[in-house]
Amino acid sequence: NINELKDTFGRTHNYLRISLIEKCNLRCKYCMPADGIPLSPKASLMSAEEILEFARIFVGLGVDKIRLTGGEPLLRKDINEILDGLSKLPVDLSLTTNGLLIDRHVDNFKKLGVKNINFSLDTLREGRFFEITRRTGFEKTLDNFRLLHEEGFNLKINTVLVKGTNDDELVDLVNLTKDYNVSVRFIEFMPFDGNRWDRSKMVSEKEVLSQLGSHFGAEQISALPHETNFTARKFKISGYQGDFGIISSVTNPFCGTCNRIRLTANGRIKNCLFSNQETDLLSAMRAGENVENLILESILKKKAVRAGMDSLEKLSDPTLHSDNRSMIAIGG
Ligand code: GTP
Ligand code: 5AD
Ligand code: SF4
Repeated sequence: NINELKDTFGRTHNYLRISLIEKCNLRCKYCMPADGIPLSPKASLMSAEEILEFARIFVGLGVDKIRLTGGEPLLRKDINEILDGLSKLPVDLSLTTNGLLIDRHVDNFKKLGVKNINFSLDTLREGRFFEITRRTGFEKTLDNFRLLHEEGFNLKINTVLVKGTNDDELVDLVNLTKDYNVSVRFIEFMPFDGNRWDRSKMVSEKEVLSQLGSHFGAEQISALPHETNFTARKFKISGYQGDFGIISSVTNPFCGTCNRIRLTANGRIKNCLFSNQETDLLSAMRAGENVENLILESILKKKAVRAGMDSLEKLSDPTLHSDNRSMIAIGG
């Protein structure tokens, strides 16, 4: 059935993540190597028109949620044209951003109905922001976070935890949810090309819960019901306005309910975050080939768990799993 992207495990893929750009205005250590990544030649990147054409094709295949990622998606010069086109489609439109450029876009987001913003923020300390992102911009980021909150956006904060870097800020970050109705999500550090991952740097879901439990008291923390196709397991401190969650892709993946498919900025379809087998949809579209069939074929090749890397060991072993992209070129 070509009207629905169902894989061999019965998972229906209705959520498309489109990476708009391979560049970023930050250089987060967990996301990219210090000297950057080799960029795709401009001619092999999707134009705004091509992105919209792909989006229409995916919507025809049952996609009803599109999240724009990057690099930093707001660095795209034609972002307004892209948002404008996507806002006319019957999709829930969302964006994942580092927040630095948000103030220039808030009015347009409001106009177009872009309400769901996932905001990367790994620390509440200025010096540490620089250490992690290798760039300045802490104050601007916080201002923009407050701005989005004031304007009533549906906000989620993404915090990638790296041991010895920001794992002493769990309580401070959860305390943001006292007065802000936001969801703070702690993310287990995952291995991608060039991010120098190793197991000892990862802070697990278990450790997060134990640290927060001993600070707030286990009886103050309640588990919230799962949302459909969730990435985060969510909790709330009693009396607080927002909530917090843990995205445990390493120790406790949620692949069983995965509904996601990805399109990279150079127009390749990726059936899993960890898959190094991509299909070049953009060349196919430019050559006038049947793109729908290629999408379906890619979905049918999707493995049950993390592109076949069922254990942490396999995922981090370059002899078993190599040539995935850097996170900056996937977009999460
Ligand atoms: P919504 O559920 O749409 O709010 O977004 P999200 O939480 O999936 O996306 P976001 O871009 O905010 O990413 C948050 C974290 O989830 C990042 O670390 C992503 O890499 C991770 N993530 C997103 N999709 C997947 C996925 O399909 N598999 C795994 N393992 N991790 C994912
Ligand atoms: N592990 C986990 N999450 C990551 N992100 C970037 N790199 C990694 C990684 N190595 C997160 C960013 C962003 C989201 C799209 O992915 O924090 O919020
Ligand atoms: Fe940029 Fe986001 Fe990667 Fe940081 S995580 S370098 S903000 S794309």
